[in-house]
Amino acid sequence: MAVISLYLVFFVVLPAIVLIAHWSSRCRRLRLPPGSLGLPFVGETLQLISAYKTENPEPFIDERVSRFGSLFTTHVFGEPTVFSVDPETNRFIMQNEGKLFECSYPGSISNLLGKHSLLLMKGSLHKRMHSLTMSFANSSIIRDHLLVDIDRLIRLNLDSWSDRVLLMEEAKKITFELTMKQLMSFDPCEWTESLRKEYVLVIEGFFSVPLPIFSPTYRRAIKARTKVAEALSLVVKQRRKESELGEKRKDMLAALVASDDHGSFSDEEIVDFLVALLVAGYETTSTSMTLAVKFLTETPLALAQITEEHEQIRAKKGEGEALEWSDYKSMAFTQCVVNETLRIANIIGGIFRRTMTDINVKGYTIPKGWKVFASFRGVHLDHEYFKDARTFNPWRWQNNSGAACPANVFTPFGGGQRLCPGYELARVELSVFLHHLVTRFSWTPAGEDKLVFFPTTRTQKRYPINVQRRDRVQTM
Ligand code: HEM
Ligand SMILES: *[C@@H]1O[C@H](CO)[C@@H](O)[C@H](O)[C@H]1NC(C)=O
Ligand SMILES: *[C@@H]1O[C@H](CO)[C@@H](O)[C@H](O)[C@H]1NC(C)=O
Ligand SMILES: *[C@@H]1O[C@H](CO)[C@@H](O)[C@H](O)[C@H]1NC(C)=O
Repeated sequence: MAVISLYLVFFVVLPAIVLIAHWSSRCRRLRLPPGSLGLPFVGETLQLISAYKTENPEPFIDERVSRFGSLFTTHVFGEPTVFSVDPETNRFIMQNEGKLFECSYPGSISNLLGKHSLLLMKGSLHKRMHSLTMSFANSSIIRDHLLVDIDRLIRLNLDSWSDRVLLMEEAKKITFELTMKQLMSFDPCEWTESLRKEYVLVIEGFFSVPLPIFSPTYRRAIKARTKVAEALSLVVKQRRKESELGEKRKDMLAALVASDDHGSFSDEEIVDFLVALLVAGYETTSTSMTLAVKFLTETPLALAQITEEHEQIRAKKGEGEALEWSDYKSMAFTQCVVNETLRIANIIGGIFRRTMTDINVKGYTIPKGWKVFASFRGVHLDHEYFKDARTFNPWRWQNNSGAACPANVFTPFGGGQRLCPGYELARVELSVFLHHLVTRFSWTPAGEDKLVFFPTTRTQKRYPINVQRRDRVQTM
């Protein structure tokens, strides 16, 4: 007995004490940002989840910022994590992507995304693919190629609306149809709709935290991902044949299939890449459409003003005439509504990164290998940067005051090397959607529906509305 106890003391307890002492002295030496690690293992995860299930947009961060300041340590999702609600630090994190910080996703997410997804790529390959994606969705491409289909497909979707509409569902359909068109030139049909059904199952898998392996939702998602990948790889093969026969198209798939001096991509790489683009644009853009409508509905003055702006544009056009780039550029108040929606909704509340080395910031040290979370939402909702920050007030962006606000304060699309390549596309899609909605329909919410922030920002009931067709605006 005694021998065993002695053995335990020498080989288990003592080393453990030494290790802990070493760690805590290292931590003291390192001067971590202040904070609380909560309970063993779960840390403050449960507080975080329950906080974001309330209607208060920022309770978890508010409470800790007031106790510890805008840089604090907590422990969520199984790891100690430093939260930053400081615009300067957030910018520092984004600007040092790949040098001091790198993105890191749990294995369950990587399996769903596919290993060749842009979100998981690093280094020079990431740089090349990011700029390829940017050049496929930049403003001149949208103006010359994408806008005409955005206008047409949104009108087509709205044609079928009557009575009660689940806005979030329609917005998701629209977004998926637009992305299929932009990536591979498919118009909506039975095939795209059946692909979307599988794809919805994949998306559900992303939110089956925290123990995905045991979750039926997650297993179903992995199966659905295989089906989506099979369907897309048939498309890729077909396209390769076409391109050998000399047929040229002007979509994302064409750019991926065309080999260049850097070499060509395999089918698997292309499929992963397409899936990632579908994922990145789907929930985000459709949620921004839904929430813009919700905020406008709750702010009648703003709704009246945006309706007037679009009626003026419509009045200059013939029945069913498509929107042009100059029309988009003339939607001044709409751009205020878009910015304010993105600011208040915070569809991506912030970004997780991992430190690649010990990081000194604001007099603290974040140890190598730790997680950091740069909170965009915390900054967007801070009264120091936006007056009455928690009120939807699109007029605050008027007179180009948006251009005056420091670049690191308003970051709905992130920044640095991982700046969202869809930022302009999302703005155009949202604007065109609002144009057709307010000129063709009036609506009232069909019942109460409230915002929730976990696991994603959305409304609880997919925002049902009752719609009535408006008479066409009289042209002069
Ligand atoms: C309102 C709509 C959208 C919002 C709020 C949004 C927001 C963001 C944010 C914050 C990031 C940075 C993530 C990070 O740094 O880890 C990001 C990345 C990304 N977004 Fe978007 N996005 C939107 C729409 C779109 C659309 C329409 C596309 C499709 C082209 C898209 C494609 C991507 C891709 C591929 C990335 C990964 C970039 C990379 O890691 O290099 N997004 N988005
Ligand atoms: C957009 O990308 C295209 C290539 O796809 C490029 O030729 C063009 O110069 C880019 N335009 C802008 C404004 O960056
Ligand atoms: C913008 O300018 C108009 C007229 O010049 C003014 O009435 C309005 O208050 C200004 N808005 C903001 C947010 O500064
Ligand atoms: C909206 O925000 C962007 C920054 O993302 C800014 O460049 C633009 O000027 C803002 N628009 C308005 C109308 O303030």
